[in-house]
Amino acid sequence: MPNRYLILGDRVAIRPVCANDYEEITALTRDSSELHHPWIPRRDTTREAFDDFVARFAQPTHEGLVICLRQTDEIVGGVNINNIVRGSMQSGMLGYVAYASTAGHGYMSEGLRLVVQFAFTELGLHRLEANIQPTNTASLNLVKRLGFLREGYSPGFQRINGVWQDHERWALTADMLSAGPCAGPA
Ligand SMILES: CC(C)(COP(=O)(O)OP(=O)(O)OC[C@H]1O[C@@H](n2cnc3c(N)ncnc32)[C@H](O)[C@@H]1OP(=O)(O)O)[C@@H](O)C(=O)NCCC(=O)NCCS
Repeated sequence: MPNRYLILGDRVAIRPVCANDYEEITALTRDSSELHHPWIPRRDTTREAFDDFVARFAQPTHEGLVICLRQTDEIVGGVNINNIVRGSMQSGMLGYVAYASTAGHGYMSEGLRLVVQFAFTELGLHRLEANIQPTNTASLNLVKRLGFLREGYSPGFQRINGVWQDHERWALTADMLSAGPCAGPA
């Protein structure tokens, strides 16, 4: 597994999600229901739905990554870069989750920083966007820690578990990173 890592950090590394991750991710997702909701839509946990999820990342418009502990290869988080637009935009939209058993240890901060590095170098992206509900403090803290800038407020941005929820729009560009180091580790 480690030889599939794209980038290594001190404690975590990132790699593409794959079909073999089904059982581990499904168990983690089941145990994380309280953490994940109401912030992200509930997902089908069948093998078929997971295979569809993984198949999405065969498209050039989507990247699906997992954050793993380097010592054990255990999955501690997932990050998707969705809706990648090329041409004059070179942008993507982030989605991410921690899992209950390993949340609150800084693994997401370290892992998302690796994803940003991967996006701005290997993928050649210029801008990453994250849309976050105003009361999702953990997610807001995460993007602030990485140097994202609050760009605006989007009423009724995403339908989550049956309700159209307002979101704040946060973004980071490669220029912002090169202008100064993003906030250090939490
Ligand atoms: C948003 C989410 C991914 C953040 O995950 P997280 O585990 O809090 O993030 P980190 O791994 O970076 O941990 C940060 C916390 O660990 C703490 N921490 C402990 N040890 C640490 C260490 N060695 N290094 C860094 N941080 C450490 C930090 O102080 C911080 O706590 P704080 O936010 O209370 O200050 C998680 O809450 C989640 O999955 N939420 C549900 C899904 C969701 O909201 N997704 C995003 C939708 S926009």
